[in-house]
This record gives sequence, C-alpha cells and structure tokens, in this order.
Amino acid sequence: MKGIVLAGGSGTRLYPITEATSKQIIPVYDKPMIYYPLSVLMQAGIRDILIITTPEDQINFKRLLEDGHKFGLNLEYTVQPSPDGLAQALLLGRDFIGDDCCALILGDNIFYGSGLEKKLKQAVINAEKGLTTIFGYQVKDPERFGIMELDINNNVLGVEEKPEHPKSDYAITGLYFYPKGVSDMASRVKPSARGELEITDLNRLYLEESKLKACLLGLGYSWFDTGTFDSLLDAANMIKSIQNNRDSVICCPEVIAYHNNWLTDKELEDRAILLQKNAYGKYLFKVLKKGKKK
Ligand code: G1P
Repeated sequence: MKGIVLAGGSGTRLYPITEATSKQIIPVYDKPMIYYPLSVLMQAGIRDILIITTPEDQINFKRLLEDGHKFGLNLEYTVQPSPDGLAQALLLGRDFIGDDCCALILGDNIFYGSGLEKKLKQAVINAEKGLTTIFGYQVKDPERFGIMELDINNNVLGVEEKPEHPKSDYAITGLYFYPKGVSDMASRVKPSARGELEITDLNRLYLEESKLKACLLGLGYSWFDTGTFDSLLDAANMIKSIQNNRDSVICCPEVIAYHNNWLTDKELEDRAILLQKNAYGKYLFKVLKKGKKK
C-alpha cells in the first residue's frame, strides 16, 4: 500500500500567513501541519509516501522531511504545477503508485480519535479487496464540503461536491483509500465546471461500480480541515488541551514510527536529543524510557 500527501494549492484563503510559505508547513500548535496527515498514513501502516507540492515550495518540504528516514519512511516528492484538482494527485503519482493500492490524504486535514488506527487498517483491507473507502464526519456547514448521502445501513447512495442544498450533513473528509488501478480510474475523470479534476467525481466512478464504502467518524473523533483562520486556531487549541492534559504529544510521527518498529531506540533517542529543549523532545525521551508497545 502506497500513500500520497497532497500539499499543493496556493493557500490564498490564509493570506497573508501563506504569502511566503506553503500552508502545510505552518504550525498547528507544536508541529508543522503536514506532520498530522503523515501520521495518519503511518498509523495505517504506510511507509512509502509521495509528497506533492507546488514547484516553489518543494524545497522547503525537502528541508523539513528529507528522505523520511527520521520517521522510518521512504519519502518521494513531485510537483503539481497548477492546482487542477485533487484527483490529479493520482495521475501525478501514477509511476509511484505502480501496481499498488494507494491512500490519498490532503495535507491540511487533521484527524484524531482513539479508534482511528483500527478504522484505517480496515480501509487498507477494503482496498486490497478492490474497494474504495471514504470517511464521513458530521458538520454544521455541509455546503462547504464534498458530501455523502447514506441509507439507514450507511451504504453510500450518492456523493456531491459542495452542493447548494446538501442531502446530508456528512462531509467527506480529505482521506481516501483506493484499490489497485486508481490512476486509470482517475484518468476517466473529466474537468468540472470550475475546471478541476474533482475527487468527488472519481469517488462517484467507484460508487457506480458498487465499490465505494463509507466509514463514519462519530463523536469520539475530531476532524479539522484547517482552511480558515478559525479552524487553524481551533485545531491548535484542541491539540494543546489534549496534549497538556495528558502530558503527551499526539500525531507524533517519531512515536508512531517507533511503535511500528520503523525506528530503533537509538534513532528515537537521536531525535529526542535534537528536540530536547521543548515538551516535544521530552515526550520522545518519555516514550523511549517506556519502550516499545508489546
Ligand atoms: C476538498 C474536497 C472536498 C472535501 C474537502 C475536505 O475541498 O474537494 O470534497 O470535503 O477537501 O477537506 P477543498 O477543501 O479543497 O475545497
């Protein structure tokens, strides 16, 4: 299973913050935004990850994440020359994906919840069986998102991108698990009225073949698409209060890698030493002292 983080886009909704840097590099409390989607893919057990950025921002992502070894990952990079739609990521990633299943996550989406890992692993199993999984989250402003319409058994009846009159309040979050052959499927998507290859149109192709599954993230989960000043601050406040209450660091790639056996004690210790001046580094020492989960 491969993974793609789509971290392109001009970020104009967050100007002036993002005039000189990519949105997915700015902090959400104590870590760069892209750490959060990376940690989701890592919880799904995915190690081979492609980072898609704008041409001018790629250099900063490479400085931040390098080849991924500090998180036990194999990272590759490519650029999206212009923001022509989310489904384009699966075309840009064609060679990288090869003959594998692939998860796609948007670089500004933050997920948190204690049962998440289990749900992600189920989505991997679905993909291996030829099924696509999308994740639903109840919101108060569904017209801002892609929307899934469900029957009483949570089977997907329809998907729609930012409808004026939404048929449900379940937003489709920016996390998608696809089976083999997703690049071929994406090449069938035609540009929408706004000229973009819409991810919702790709998902609809799977729905038409009865290959689209919905996984709902209920009350125990938090999801933020950090596209506005307020949602950015809300996400940061949530991370801060969870972490400070528990004296821990959530969505921490080093710790996920360590428990996945992708980092040795020595490698985790090297990161802890580098970050020792703050609570993040101190948490890495704490995890090291406890040792790997049995
Ligand atoms: C995109 C998708 C939309 C999805 C959202 C989640 O919208 O097109 O279907 O609900 O991400 O973050 P965007 O935020 O690019 O407008």
